[in-house]
Amino acid sequence: MSKEVVIDVQNVSKTYAQGDLSVDVLRDVSFKIYAGERVAIVGASGSGKSTLLHLLGGLEPPSSGFVVIKNVDINRLGAKALGHFRSCYVGFIYQFHHLLPEFTAFENVCLPLRIQLDAKGTAFRTHDSSSWQDRLGWVARKLMGVGQFIVLLLTFWFKAFAHRHKIKRALPGIKEKASTVLALVGLTDRQHHKPAEMSGGERQRAAIARALVAEPACILADEPTGNLDWKNSDQIYDMMLSLNKTHQTSFIVVTHDQALANRMDRVLRLEEGRLTEVESA
Ligand SMILES: Nc1ncnc2c1ncn2[C@@H]1O[C@H](COP(=O)(O)OP(=O)(O)O)[C@@H](O)[C@H]1O
Ligand SMILES: [Mg+2]
Repeated sequence: MSKEVVIDVQNVSKTYAQGDLSVDVLRDVSFKIYAGERVAIVGASGSGKSTLLHLLGGLEPPSSGFVVIKNVDINRLGAKALGHFRSCYVGFIYQFHHLLPEFTAFENVCLPLRIQLDAKGTAFRTHDSSSWQDRLGWVARKLMGVGQFIVLLLTFWFKAFAHRHKIKRALPGIKEKASTVLALVGLTDRQHHKPAEMSGGERQRAAIARALVAEPACILADEPTGNLDWKNSDQIYDMMLSLNKTHQTSFIVVTHDQALANRMDRVLRLEEGRLTEVESA
């Protein structure tokens, strides 16, 4: 297995205020996840498993410590750059599918690729103003005189035009990729159905396709089969584990299912805010 570090969590703590109380959900948590690794996170309800995944995906900042993904300290990115970063490197699968109800499975799976298109070419510098609009704004404030302002307007218009052209050119590739991934999860026949017209297992398979389609470096899954019966759960896990082999994607899966946890490379347990490695039997 390659030894590239994908996620490096360094001394992360998370404290929530609950009324007058402050609750230490995570205390000085450190670990590394390598490329292609499959890791289960287990722990009692309320032990902070979802909180940890949210921190790994940059949905929430830690109270202290660092979450470094692909060598980028994600909490030093501005909101927009963080969104772009996520679209390139992180896929989420939740317990509830979170597909957009008004779109078909196919359209739902196309969405991350469309979002990723906006992020392409972004250099993820870890300071808060990395987008060209920010830099353009800064230059605009510095420049004086109507002539320069018109030049800036034309630049803005040209960039918008070029962007529309880029989307048009990319569309056939996006559609082809979405179809391929939907075929991988066995949904070719159902791809033009909306979530309400699909079974629970089919919806969750569509959610997996959506998480995988942009080929992120890591997939964060929060009890992804919590709503499914054992037969559907088994199918979903077989699928995720085989996709992990072919794509070298790292999987971090929160689960209550001991049988699944045993199929992963490592098991980490959260207890009283501390994370420990569970030794395999
Ligand atoms: N946004 C929040 N505000 C305050 N407390 C929170 C928040 N999110 C989670 N918590 C608390 O953090 C603890 C861990 O929650 P969670 O990460 O959801 O646990 P788990 O996923 O292991 O069941 C719980 O005590 C919960 O009440
Ligand atoms: Mg949870």
